[in-house]
Amino acid sequence: MILEIQEKSYLNELVELEKNCFQNSFWNEQQILSHLETGKTLVFQKEKILGYVFYSESYWEIEILRIGIKEEFQRNKIGTKLLNFLKSKNKEIFLEVSNLNIKAINFYKKNEFKNTYIRKKYYLDGSDAICFSWKLS
Ligand SMILES: CC(C)(COP(=O)(O)OP(=O)(O)OC[C@H]1O[C@@H](n2cnc3c(N)ncnc32)[C@H](O)[C@@H]1OP(=O)(O)O)[C@@H](O)C(=O)NCCC(=O)NCCS
Repeated sequence: MILEIQEKSYLNELVELEKNCFQNSFWNEQQILSHLETGKTLVFQKEKILGYVFYSESYWEIEILRIGIKEEFQRNKIGTKLLNFLKSKNKEIFLEVSNLNIKAINFYKKNEFKNTYIRKKYYLDGSDAICFSWKLS
């Protein structure tokens, strides 16, 4: 089941999941709490949350800030389902990802996102940011 959430009761689960998905660069509890209060969050939930997207949304567009699927449930199309939910809002979607994150790059390409430009040495580790967008056709 895919749900739009804002409730702080999800905070602990999201903190754990964020650590599971982004071992070296996870958002801490305060950052996630602040996002729950001000941004938008989508989760894929069975009994527990297996995947999530933190994003921002304006009238015209959506920016994906984080997307993560619990490691042992990756490659089961949960990420694709979350992207499809966002696509159904009929807005342009954009995001940035490190050029070192090959699985995420493959994931966005498979889901029909196009590489728009590259920000050289954008991240603290010196990696480039690959900018992707998906537009309504
Ligand atoms: C990137 C991520 C969100 C993908 O979610 P997912 O649910 O595992 O992806 P899906 O099952 O929907 O995969 C769809 C397609 O993406 C590509 N893909 C996904 N994982 C891949 C991998 N490990 N290696 C290569 N391609 C991959 C494949 O083309 C796949 O289609 P296929 O299985 O038919 O070949 C997930 O791997 C993840 O949480 N990674 C850690 C956090 C992260 O890096 N987030 C993105 C940066 S913000």
